[in-house]
Amino acid sequence: ALPEHVKIVEVGPRDGLQNEKEIVPTEVKIKLIELLSDTGLSVVEATSFVSPKWVPQMADSTEVMKGIQKRPHVQYPVLTPNLQGFHAAVKAGAKEVAVFGAASETFSKMNINCSIEESMQRFEKVISSAKDAGIPVRGYVSCVIQCPYEGNIEPTKVAEVAKRMYSMGCNEISLGDTTGAATPGSLRKLLEVVMKEIPKSALAVHCHDTYGQALANILLALQMGICVVDCSVAGLGGCPYAKAASGNVSTEDVVYMLNGLGIHTGVDLCKLMEAGHFICEALKRTTNSKVAEACYKT
Ligand code: HMG
Ligand code: MG
Repeated sequence: ALPEHVKIVEVGPRDGLQNEKEIVPTEVKIKLIELLSDTGLSVVEATSFVSPKWVPQMADSTEVMKGIQKRPHVQYPVLTPNLQGFHAAVKAGAKEVAVFGAASETFSKMNINCSIEESMQRFEKVISSAKDAGIPVRGYVSCVIQCPYEGNIEPTKVAEVAKRMYSMGCNEISLGDTTGAATPGSLRKLLEVVMKEIPKSALAVHCHDTYGQALANILLALQMGICVVDCSVAGLGGCPYAKAASGNVSTEDVVYMLNGLGIHTGVDLCKLMEAGHFICEALKRTTNSKVAEACYKT
């Protein structure tokens, strides 16, 4: 059976923009987040408190967090890889954060410059400080199907890392198909293993659409009882440490599919398309959303 309600986690302003080569003006980022906040979305991941040497696009995270007119019913989580990022995020007004690990040693090293084991120790510190401050922490696991450097990843490795992050106190674990290689076949096998360790209600899927499989993968995940889906307006994005990977599945396409299934999201598709149109104009690029493309033609 499919869920009645799905929570959409909009990651466009973070996952979408982090990979843009040209620095996007802070006002554009703020405007995008505000437009998204007015679509009915309940979660808009706003930015990352990471090293500006590693990801220059996120160097204005404090200005972005302070600049957005926060809507009372919207959460604005931010990425915090370590205590330094966590403290900066809290100072800038963050009320929710996310740590991000990986099921691949090489990806961990390339993305956050430490081993999986070291990352767990860093996350433990972030999670414990967050607990003291009453701040919920989401946990991402990257490379749940494939690593851009190591190839296929075993579901048992993903389950081990995810379980550790969940046991440390992450309230939600987002399974990242970083390279977009998953199919409903490989994702089913993964979810069967991970669901033995973590309740379905605490899992999210984070599908990049490199191979055009994201909507099929999301439908499979919903059928297996997952009801939190990450997506990115206009299908923006990719990860700077996964070169060939394209953006997340587009929020417009996911909302269109969920509308068709009669699943409630609370998101207004027209307003969402306006937000997508705004950012595509600002970046001078065409949308990666099939639905937006179709609607603008007709
Ligand atoms: P490091 O160089 O190992 O850190 O980076 P360090 O502790 O040795 O510090 C070195 C320098 O970085 C120092 O500055 C620190 O102050 C600074 P210096 O003295 O040289 O001037 N520094 C920081 N500055 C700002 N904010 C911080 C911070 N920490 C240290 N939080 C670090 C380690 C984790 C910081 C670095 O590797 C990094 O920033 N990585 C981020 C990479 C990233 O953002 N990747 C993209 C997001 S993950 C993703 O996209 C996947 C996901 O979407 C799921 C999926 O699709 O799979 C979530
Ligand atoms: Mg991602």
